[in-house]
Amino acid sequence: MGVSHEEAFLDDWSALSAFGAVAGTTGVDRQAATEPDGEQRRWLDALLTSEGFTVHRDAIGNQFALCELVPGAPYVLTGSHLDSQPTAGRFDGAYGVLASAHAAIRTACSLRETGEATRNIAVVNWFNEEGSRFKPSMMGSSVFTGKLSLEDALATVDRHGVTVREALEGIGERGDAVAPEVASYLEIHVEQGRAMAENGITIGLVEATWGAHKFEIRVTGEQAHSGSALMRDRRDALLAASRLVVAARDLVERFPEGMLHTAVGELHVYPNSPVVVASEARLLLDLRSESAEVLAAATAALMAEMERIAAKDRVGIEIVAEHAWDRNPYGEAGLALARSVASEMGLPHARVLTIAGHDSTNMKDIAPTVMLFVPSVDGVSHNVNEYTTDADLLAGVEATTEVLRRLVCG
Ligand code: GLV
Ligand code: MN
Ligand code: MN
Ligand code: MN
Repeated sequence: MGVSHEEAFLDDWSALSAFGAVAGTTGVDRQAATEPDGEQRRWLDALLTSEGFTVHRDAIGNQFALCELVPGAPYVLTGSHLDSQPTAGRFDGAYGVLASAHAAIRTACSLRETGEATRNIAVVNWFNEEGSRFKPSMMGSSVFTGKLSLEDALATVDRHGVTVREALEGIGERGDAVAPEVASYLEIHVEQGRAMAENGITIGLVEATWGAHKFEIRVTGEQAHSGSALMRDRRDALLAASRLVVAARDLVERFPEGMLHTAVGELHVYPNSPVVVASEARLLLDLRSESAEVLAAATAALMAEMERIAAKDRVGIEIVAEHAWDRNPYGEAGLALARSVASEMGLPHARVLTIAGHDSTNMKDIAPTVMLFVPSVDGVSHNVNEYTTDADLLAGVEATTEVLRRLVCG
């Protein structure tokens, strides 16, 4: 007897989860255009080429695997991202790519001979969704959808001054493929929140993304001896940056519970030495809300806090880059399709919001899009302990396969 779809998926899942494994944990570290990223991409190529797909890279390193069922027809694109945060869970992104790959293989096999397909199928692994090594996040899908220029993306540097172009060329992952013509887009992802697990929902029908406003901020003070400099003479960049970290957290209290999420996730201090008052600090500060009004009010309040802190600590505070997206909805047609698939399959389902950004956030602006979620146990995410049960992973693969079949035959 052959291997079942379920066994095949779980075997491939465990093979994929080994790339960039963080020792002593079930998590991974495979940031964009690092060696483990290159290795997992070649593994995905092998999986899909062995099933008759043709693999390509575009100029920003998006990875495509194409199966042409109807010569000249546009493609239903399905996928997510394989790159991760440092010390991340193994599900965020990678689950969606593998679920899409299995759904695509099964759909292609069942439709190759029947003549039912009206569209072709392509699996995609978007480059640098996480934005941990190179900012901004969702880089590959932003270039694909024309929201970010290819030149700007390729020139972006990591903290060691390596450009995206150099990093992609270094792992042999920059190509010149022309983007496939897209008929529609399908993505599945783990929820990264606790609502679905707590409410017994197996399939989330994503109806909208929270808005986000991300700031890269530079604080400039004056380097001094941390012992001998008089306290009144100091212009301490780290002290001011710390006040900003606290100010971002305190902003949350000005709005109704749950309406604003904020954090500083990254902080660099210069020269970062024990007996030196810092001359400079750089922060990555993130504001998120479901409400455009709350996000705008929080942004204005943050600007006022920056001015207050700059005056108090006699430092410069400037925004060196910003990336924002508005709360915006997914299309009703995709939601209706996903709902009918989940209900016909008998899978508990509900409309949900996504707080995290996804490549579908970009894709839904250029093509009819379906975005599905499966639950995350305890909502743990961006953490090596991120976890989704095998039963939920498999239910998501089944739902993805059926949605894909309908999109390809529709
Ligand atoms: C990416 O996942 C983001 O939410 O910024
Ligand atoms: Mn993700
Ligand atoms: Mn992520
Ligand atoms: Mn994300």
